[in-house]
Amino acid sequence: ATETVETEVLVVGSGPAGASAALFLAALGVETIMVTKYRWTADTPRAHITNQRTMEIFRDLGIEDQVLREATPHELMGDTVFCTAIAGDEIGRIRTWGTHPARHADYELASPSLNCDIPQTYLEPILVRNATVRGAQTRFSTEYLSHVQDADGVTATVLDRLTGREYRIRAKYLIGADGARSRVAAGLALPLEGEMDIAGSMNITFKADLGELVGHRPSVLYWVIQPGSNIGGIGAGLVRMVRPWHEWLIVWGYDITREPPVVGTEAATRIVRNLVGVPDLDVTITGTSLWGNNEQYATHLHSGRVFCAGDAVHKHPPSNGLGSNTSIQDSYNLAWKLAAVLRGQAGAGLLETYSAERAPVAEQIVKRANKSAREFSALFDALGIAGTETEAEMIARMEERKANTPEGAAKRAAVRQAMDLKNYEFNAHGVELGQHYTSTAVAGDGVPRPEPERDPELYYQPSTTPGARLPHAWVGNSNRKVSTHDLAPYGQFTLLTGITGERWAEAAAKVGATLGVPLETVVIGPGRENTDLYFDWAGLREVEEDGALLVRPDKHIGWRAHRLPEDPETVLSRALSAILSRK
Ligand code: FDA
Repeated sequence: ATETVETEVLVVGSGPAGASAALFLAALGVETIMVTKYRWTADTPRAHITNQRTMEIFRDLGIEDQVLREATPHELMGDTVFCTAIAGDEIGRIRTWGTHPARHADYELASPSLNCDIPQTYLEPILVRNATVRGAQTRFSTEYLSHVQDADGVTATVLDRLTGREYRIRAKYLIGADGARSRVAAGLALPLEGEMDIAGSMNITFKADLGELVGHRPSVLYWVIQPGSNIGGIGAGLVRMVRPWHEWLIVWGYDITREPPVVGTEAATRIVRNLVGVPDLDVTITGTSLWGNNEQYATHLHSGRVFCAGDAVHKHPPSNGLGSNTSIQDSYNLAWKLAAVLRGQAGAGLLETYSAERAPVAEQIVKRANKSAREFSALFDALGIAGTETEAEMIARMEERKANTPEGAAKRAAVRQAMDLKNYEFNAHGVELGQHYTSTAVAGDGVPRPEPERDPELYYQPSTTPGARLPHAWVGNSNRKVSTHDLAPYGQFTLLTGITGERWAEAAAKVGATLGVPLETVVIGPGRENTDLYFDWAGLREVEEDGALLVRPDKHIGWRAHRLPEDPETVLSRALSAILSRK
């Protein structure tokens, strides 16, 4: 007979989606088993840009410091260079990831946390370790094979690759976080839009000391325009920093309609030396691999008790750095809902809102990333190299931008414009922080969302319209300074109000006790534990001082009241019950 072990939630995969799901669930006290196919966490650097939303989540879980210790800091991320080779001609730079002084304020104002760069090889062990420390069972060398589900749970069959033995795991819920070739998602036949393998890329990892070539223009990305760099791939040749400034990863495209290239050490060394532009560069190739660029997303993310998160439901090129971030954010959205349903605090309807809230994000980021990759063509057009046949012709065309002629001037202007477009890839703050949810877990107040004052992809505009992410402001007292996000930890609902709204606290205590839901009230004002230190909060909350914001565990606004009503308990109880799909 096959043995069966039991758990509340089974997570398949230890990538950003799976490892973070295990961490979030364990932090909420949910019994969790995480299985993963290989004996290791990510063995290549993979995703690296870690945006503010993700850093806030790490802050919430108490692991932001651990991540920062192993990350390349924000200040070293942003002098993104476009060149003919790292040691060659520079076409220009743009300041990225919010490092432009004019943009930096937006980033600083929006969040308690700045972005950073941490390769997946460093991030995954932090997530797995913290999940394990909080009690998740982590099983390596364990492959998910299949599952069946019934009204009460899911029974998965897994293979212990160490012993070759199969066994069963019986769980209330299953999370398929098994990546772009997800077997869990395939088993559910989730509806998919778009295509896989639309362009070919190769990754080459290598060690070489490039400090002298890049230290004065620190960046995580150096884009190379060379013959061949517009074939396949992610828009252009890329030399990406893994560790400053001696470990690197090159992404170079190939024509996916042809036979896949064989990239041996010799070929890899040649590509590295070409892109760096130093013919006799001392380089150690540490790995090569081929991968396909995808443009595919699921329009529904779960079936019954089985949920998919991460690349299993959104597959796209690394442009905009959204892969790992979105995967972690999916799990952050899902884990508290599973915990609330498992604890009897919410009806099963709450779980439907995972798909309602995250499927639109999946579509948005897949389209954004692919658009960003395509928008490189504007730079090729501006340089006039799109249709060039020979290397000599390409170089001649690029040289034209230096000419003291009207054509030269026109080319310079065109290049400048094309570079401007890259802000949508590298400074898309609105894409990163502006996610707005519409579902039954959001109780709207009928007030329409404020119209964006600036381009909504480039700029994040704080709002407390139900569904929006809680705006950040620094609050606290003479002894401490904390973010509004810190007031609303993951394990609870939080009601934020002001001094004239103090009566909400009593109402919330009653509602929390009656519904059996952890609900804390925080009164922000002088003489209380937290006051509006810089008077920023008053300008952000969009409700009167006696109004209230009901913040969900994932820091999205679930509901708000503009004023204190006659009977705050009834309205609050109604709102929270609706959010939690309680009858
Ligand atoms: P992810 O693919 O990370 O994890 C899937 C997990 O499931 C793994 O732990 C795997 O072992 C496990 N698994 C799979 N099948 C299983 C089974 N049957 N049973 C048990 N476990 C199973 N992004 C980016 O922004 N910049 C980049 O440069 C790159 N580069 C890159 C290179 C390579 C080689 C890959 C594969 C991916 C990238 N990416 C990337 C994409 C980025 O890594 C990706 O968006 C995130 O890792 C997605 O996280 P997930 O957790 O969803 O899947």
